[in-house]
Amino acid sequence: MVHPTDDASVSADHASTTNANHAKAVLRNTSSNSPTEFFPAPIDVVETIIVLDYGSQFSMLIARRIREANLYSELIPWDTSPDELKHLGIKGFILSGGPASVYEDGAPQLPDWVANSGLPILGICYGMQLLAHKLGGSVKPAANREFGPATLEIKDTSSALFRSLPDSLQVWMSHGDRIERLPPDFNSIAESENAPIAAMADDAGHYGIQFHPEVVHTPQGDQLIRNFLFEIAGCRGDWTASSFVDKSVEAIRERVGKGKVICALSGGVDSAVAATLVHRAVGDQLTCIFVDNALLRMNEPERVVSTFREQMKINLIHVEAQERFMIELAEVTAPETKRIRIGETFIRVFETEAEKLGQVDFIAQGTTYPDVIESASTGSDATAKIKTHHNVGGIPKDIQFELIEPLRNLFKDEVRRVGKELGLSDEMVYRQPFPGPGLAIRIIGEVTADKLDILRRADWVVMDEIKKAGLYYELWQAFAVLTDTKSVGVQGDFRTYGHCIALRVVTAEDAMTADWARLPYELLASISNRIVNEVQEVNRVVYDITSKPPGTIEWE
Ligand code: XMP
Repeated sequence: MVHPTDDASVSADHASTTNANHAKAVLRNTSSNSPTEFFPAPIDVVETIIVLDYGSQFSMLIARRIREANLYSELIPWDTSPDELKHLGIKGFILSGGPASVYEDGAPQLPDWVANSGLPILGICYGMQLLAHKLGGSVKPAANREFGPATLEIKDTSSALFRSLPDSLQVWMSHGDRIERLPPDFNSIAESENAPIAAMADDAGHYGIQFHPEVVHTPQGDQLIRNFLFEIAGCRGDWTASSFVDKSVEAIRERVGKGKVICALSGGVDSAVAATLVHRAVGDQLTCIFVDNALLRMNEPERVVSTFREQMKINLIHVEAQERFMIELAEVTAPETKRIRIGETFIRVFETEAEKLGQVDFIAQGTTYPDVIESASTGSDATAKIKTHHNVGGIPKDIQFELIEPLRNLFKDEVRRVGKELGLSDEMVYRQPFPGPGLAIRIIGEVTADKLDILRRADWVVMDEIKKAGLYYELWQAFAVLTDTKSVGVQGDFRTYGHCIALRVVTAEDAMTADWARLPYELLASISNRIVNEVQEVNRVVYDITSKPPGTIEWE
């Protein structure tokens, strides 16, 4: 599955792909732990809860909930070798849900090294069934499958898992199998209408729950997860942005030594935070490369240069490659061709600049945890390609530098917190996503300098109005699209024949799904009025009211 990053850059795109493939190789290859392939964990022997992924759509949410409790966690394929986790101080395991049935041939297993670790284990849904199956209980298809809300009645109110929770809880169920017979030494500690054993526990720190505490539909699920982390696994919870920065700076310094580092800067959050972190560690040994591809928003190149070069005093090479990109895009109308041309051109420009620097040892990239997880999750290869996202642009695969990916274990909100910790402005840290191929995929048809100019001015109005209305941070994205439609209008007493701008404004939790924003009519009216008044070439503005799916966020 292609994972949409929130970072703005071609370089970030490409960074994601490279890193993602790389991560996949690392996660799958049990013998690979060479430092050139795997950035050392940012924190040595950090308290960690490992989430074993059995394929539930909620697996990533479990890891998120743990991180929100200031504890480090990693989501790993269930069959990962323990050799890959030696650098972590594992304090417990959570087994995710998943679509399989434990009694089927080839069903994913509970590895012996986990079952015999002596550490606390919480099995969720399939994870619970697996625990029961492995430890000598029996699992059967349920007579009544349970999907959706259910009421959980707690039978053992003294259980540490239910500390500070009421006797009866709203929970979210999603299972077709259920525990028929408990394993030896286990007790049923909660029930629901269709699951007499909705939760189980033994005295050795093994817990199973048939429902999903990680989803919002289990309103007190957070407390239950925290009970497992702090009451049962005895964690401290000291994983914070500031501890991350301190330890990462130390680790980067040690790794880089006197070496030279380059970083492709896009203006997006991920590459900005990665560069700032590396800069804090090695100062002038870092050189950032910012490629102006002619496809950026109004004032964007100036902003990047002033933030990084002038305010942060980072060595920055500003490559003015506008003409080269425009030549490559001439007469291209197909969205995929645009993306590919932009990506390839970026690589060539970047390579040329890197060569000019002489000896370079490392390349820093803003890969984040969702990129790593998405690419490592099973089945991703089978997903139909909708758009070339991160396959666009970026550093060539055979690059000679060693990779530094200081954010590869962080979720987006954590990247933002680290950015704040490093002193980056809110404006930089909470920026809305901007795609690597930039305005090119918001101009339907051929990209020309005139059309870029029209779109830039219209887009500026959208952004200005959205910011004035105080909605910038609430929306996932707000932007203008230059359609390839022209229409007749009347302005003053004159007939006009002008361009049609589409507004695209969406809300989203992540970009996998999105909904069109219900903007106030007054705001829509002022955006429309200002665009037709301030951008002479435009005489019509329409609002895109398509959610994703079936639409995508970008038009191309
Ligand atoms: P779609 O259009 O697929 O976009 O719904 C989902 C999110 O991804 C962003 N996007 C990209 N980001 N490189 C990126 O870094 C790309 O090639 C790219 N294409 C789309 C888009 O802006 C939205 O946030």
